[in-house]
Amino acid sequence: MSGRIIAIASGKGGVGKTWLSISLSQALAREGERVLLVDGDFGLANADVQLGLDPRRDLADVLTGRCTVAEAAVAHAAGFDVLPGRSGSGALAALDGAGMNRLLVALDEARMGWPLVVLDLGAGLDPSVRRLAASAETLLVVATDEPTSLTDAYAVLKLHRRDAPGADARLVVNQAQDRTSGERTWATLNRACEGFLGAGVALAGVIRRDAKVPESIRRQTPLLTRHPGSTAAQDVEALARGLLALA
Ligand SMILES: Nc1ncnc2c1ncn2[C@@H]1O[C@H](COP(=O)(O)OP(=O)(O)OP(=O)(O)O)[C@@H](O)[C@H]1O
Ligand SMILES: [Mg+2]
Repeated sequence: MSGRIIAIASGKGGVGKTWLSISLSQALAREGERVLLVDGDFGLANADVQLGLDPRRDLADVLTGRCTVAEAAVAHAAGFDVLPGRSGSGALAALDGAGMNRLLVALDEARMGWPLVVLDLGAGLDPSVRRLAASAETLLVVATDEPTSLTDAYAVLKLHRRDAPGADARLVVNQAQDRTSGERTWATLNRACEGFLGAGVALAGVIRRDAKVPESIRRQTPLLTRHPGSTAAQDVEALARGLLALA
């Protein structure tokens, strides 16, 4: 049986994709799932930095055939495996058509080895981000309440419907002041999707702004390890349970 990819995109940068990818991987692992986190941000891969890893092998080694996905994946103490990216080398930044095909093969390899694959995508809407988003069984689009984040999330959803008609895409509102304001942010985007795209977007979850998030990132320790029970940790756990209930 083949695994399921949950890709995390946003359009706008800096909204919390990488942090969410890590925290969601940990929350899913705590629900008893075997999870592989893949750093699919080619320009500025940094999941390994947030996780305090110093990887010997990474996705670039997989794409050049030096090792397999399983050989490059490292087990993190937080209970999930990580396939790190490579930042700044340019090796992945300019992925041509053949490179993209090798990447899609690598993701299939990941699907064969792990029931759940969480794929952290880069900001923006370039063809490689779109292609990877379209290859996922579930796309989570992360937005905050900033207007620029919402317009970018709308653009991601619009293109994704074109690239992968009928595919499952859901919104995660991050850094929300509280649940009600997060739901208001979703309602705004949902109305735009209903009005201009012909169908709304489901809300996967609201994650509240929590000062413990930047604090744990500075410590290079996952939030659910450092501050279990914090507001953002509770919200990510609820998101993970909701996603598992969909399967
Ligand atoms: N729920 C939250 N509460 C408070 N701060 C948050 C929350 N989520 C994310 N952040 C902050 O947002 C910053 C950016 O997070 P992150 O690097 O994960 O974003 P990103 O979307 O992956 O960025 P990029 O587009 O550059 O890849 C973090 O350093 C963290 O301080
Ligand atoms: Mg990131």
